[in-house]
Amino acid sequence: MAEDICFFNKETLIIKPPKKSPLLLRMIVLVFAMVFGVYICSICLKQLSIQTMTRFQSIRVIARPCHDTKLLEIPYKHYPMPETFSRAECARNPVRFFAILSMQRSGSGWFESLMNSHKNVSSNGEIFSVRSRRENISSIVQTLDKVYNLDWFSSASKNECSAATGFKWMLNQGLMEHHKEVVQYFNRRGVSAIFLFRRNLLRRMVSVLANSYDRYAKLLNGTHKSHVHSEEEADTLKKYKPTINCTKLITDLKEMELTTSKALAYFNSTRHIVLFYEDINRTKLKEVQEFLSLPQMELTSRQVKIHNGPLSDLIKNWDDVKKTLIGTPYEDFLRSDY
Ligand SMILES: *[C@@H]1O[C@H](CO)[C@@H](O)[C@H](O)[C@H]1NC(C)=O
Ligand SMILES: *[C@@H]1O[C@H](CO)[C@@H](O)[C@H](O)[C@H]1NC(C)=O
Ligand SMILES: *[C@@H]1O[C@H](CO)[C@@H](O)[C@H](O)[C@H]1NC(C)=O
Ligand SMILES: *[C@@H]1O[C@H](CO)[C@@H](O)[C@H](O)[C@H]1NC(C)=O
Ligand SMILES: *[C@@H]1O[C@H](CO)[C@@H](O)[C@H](O)[C@H]1NC(C)=O
Ligand SMILES: *[C@@H]1O[C@H](CO)[C@@H](O)[C@H](O)[C@H]1NC(C)=O
Repeated sequence: MAEDICFFNKETLIIKPPKKSPLLLRMIVLVFAMVFGVYICSICLKQLSIQTMTRFQSIRVIARPCHDTKLLEIPYKHYPMPETFSRAECARNPVRFFAILSMQRSGSGWFESLMNSHKNVSSNGEIFSVRSRRENISSIVQTLDKVYNLDWFSSASKNECSAATGFKWMLNQGLMEHHKEVVQYFNRRGVSAIFLFRRNLLRRMVSVLANSYDRYAKLLNGTHKSHVHSEEEADTLKKYKPTINCTKLITDLKEMELTTSKALAYFNSTRHIVLFYEDINRTKLKEVQEFLSLPQMELTSRQVKIHNGPLSDLIKNWDDVKKTLIGTPYEDFLRSDY
């Protein structure tokens, strides 16, 4: 039997139709089986005397699709096959790939903890904070492949029953540098981007300065903490009031805005959603779950906001900052309470 048709595997003894075999394929298999049957019969009739000739075991076949049926599906649904474990009873559930693209001190830690409170979400943290993983585009791709194959382990991994998997990626962690290749990767692998920015960039600046001060000062009993889980801890961290350098304040704010708009322009061709820290409430979180086609759940976080209350209480040289910003497009940052 010289027929070398790819949907027949002669070694297998069971006839087993594929789960999602298209009708056409079934027809081809059926027609082939009929033609083959006729052919065998004709041989039998011709050579009745030779009993040992053609036996039916040679046509016990299995139909197997020639091509990957997944190609025909929506590219944002994935069925990863991790090397390190089996997806078990959830293997038939599709998985969505996402990346939270953000900047430091923009609420991404809090947002990620909200996402991870969903029983089907694995957001694996700031994986590119480790320099070697973002050294060059090949190490970036290698890391991404591992995450989206569900082979990346973190405290957030939900393994077999993840319906959405991703991580958070800061714009200054190789993302802007390698934006072309990353956009290509996202579009090729069907990764959705979740942008998370902060509207009030002055508040972001306070948080950046205080966090960087605490890296050395370690106000909480000698440990540096970027996020806290109690009002007490928040109050301790809030006691430090940063001084803002007014000489470069406007330039710094402009630069932050520019980075944001550049990132949005670079990733414009990627499926994405843009969130602002200040707007995140139940309604927004529902929208995010919809964006990732997740079953709707109430999301919760134990994190407590550190710098709340009016900005005048949080900045040491408040009067200078006020003078610098009044009459500029950034004047509104002085007033908003959030
Ligand atoms: C990329 O970076 C990794 C990790 O630092 C390194 O091992 C590898 O040789 C680099 N590859 C290229 C092509 O530079
Ligand atoms: C979500 O996870 C639960 C188990 O925690 C699982 O039974 C369910 O099928 C998952 N849902 C989806 C959409 O993957
Ligand atoms: C830190 O110190 C305070 C008192 O100085 C104490 O009440 C608190 O329990 C300590 N916290 C931790 C995490 O050790
Ligand atoms: C403020 O920024 C300017 C410009 O970068 C710099 O020359 C100056 O030393 C800074 N002042 C302080 C107090 O850090
Ligand atoms: C993204 O592209 C659309 C049309 O292609 C355009 O209207 C929109 O302004 C672009 N947005 C950004 C942020 O570049
Ligand atoms: C969430 O905020 C939006 C405005 O940004 C508002 O329209 C909506 O009612 C809010 N939803 C909840 C549940 O607070």
